[in-house]
Amino acid sequence: MAFLTLEDIDTAVQVIQEKTPIKPRIGMILGSGLGPLADSVESAVKFSSQDIPGWPASTVEGHAGLLVCGELEGQSVFVLQGRAHYYEGVSMAQIGLPVRVMQRMGVEILIVTNAAGAVNPDFIPGDLMLITDHINLIGMAGLTPLRGPNLAEYGPRFPDMSQVYDRDLSALAREIATEAEIPLREGVYICLGGPAFETPADLRFLRGIGVDAVGMSTVAEAIVARHGGMRVLGVSGISNKANLDGETITTHEEVLEAGKVITPRLSVLIRGVLRQL
Ligand code: HPA
Repeated sequence: MAFLTLEDIDTAVQVIQEKTPIKPRIGMILGSGLGPLADSVESAVKFSSQDIPGWPASTVEGHAGLLVCGELEGQSVFVLQGRAHYYEGVSMAQIGLPVRVMQRMGVEILIVTNAAGAVNPDFIPGDLMLITDHINLIGMAGLTPLRGPNLAEYGPRFPDMSQVYDRDLSALAREIATEAEIPLREGVYICLGGPAFETPADLRFLRGIGVDAVGMSTVAEAIVARHGGMRVLGVSGISNKANLDGETITTHEEVLEAGKVITPRLSVLIRGVLRQL
C-alpha cells in the first residue's frame, strides 16, 4: 500500500462498524509494554490486524496488535493495543490507516504513547514525559504518511504543525499528574527509523539538535491526526537511558521491563485525563 485512498479507509471502517455500533470520541495508541490499559476497556469488541483489510500488523514482542473498541472512564474509546512500526516493513501510508479510520469514525482526540530512550541526562527509566513537540527527522527526508495524493476530505495539502501537541490537553495532563503525585517530565520527542538502537555518536547528535527522548513511532501518527484536525496528547514512557557514554547497553527486554513501572503511572494519568474530557 503506497498511498491511502478514501476506499481503503471506508473499507476498514465498514468492517469495524459491522461488529460494533461504537462512535468513539477518543482514540488511543499504546506503545511497547504499555498495552495493559487496553485490557481494562469495558464492553470491549476486539479486532486483530488480520480482521481489517490493510491494517498494519505488529510483529514485535510487547505489542499485542489488537484494536479494542469500548468504554473507559465513561468515554467511548478506540484503542490500538500495540502498533506497527516502519522498521517492520509496513508502509508509512499503512501506519496512517488506523488514525484515518479513527477520524472517519468521529474521533476528535488522539492520545499517543510510546516507550522512548532518555536523551536528556536528567531523565531516568520509569519517568513519564509529556511530549511538547517532535522533530520529524525521517519526515524531513521524505518518509511521511502524507506523501501521495492529498486526501482533501481529511485535511489540507500543507498542514500546519506549529502546535502538534495540544496545549489544553497538555495542561490537563499536568494537572492530573500533579494531583496524583506522578512526576511528569516534558520535552521533545524524535522518531528514528530503527530497529537498531542509536550509537553514542547518534545520541550526541540528537542531544545537540534539542531532543529529550528518542523512539521509533508516534510522529507519523501525530502528523496524520493533525492533518485531519484532531487534538493530540502525547506521552512517552522513558524505558532506558540512552547510551551517550558508550558504556550502557540498550535492550528490548529493558524496554519491556520499564513498561512494568511505566504502565501503572500511565494508566493513572490517562484515566484521569479521560475522566475530565
Ligand atoms: N532508542 C530508540 N527507541 C527506543 C529506545 C531507545 O533508546 N527505547 C525505547 N524505544
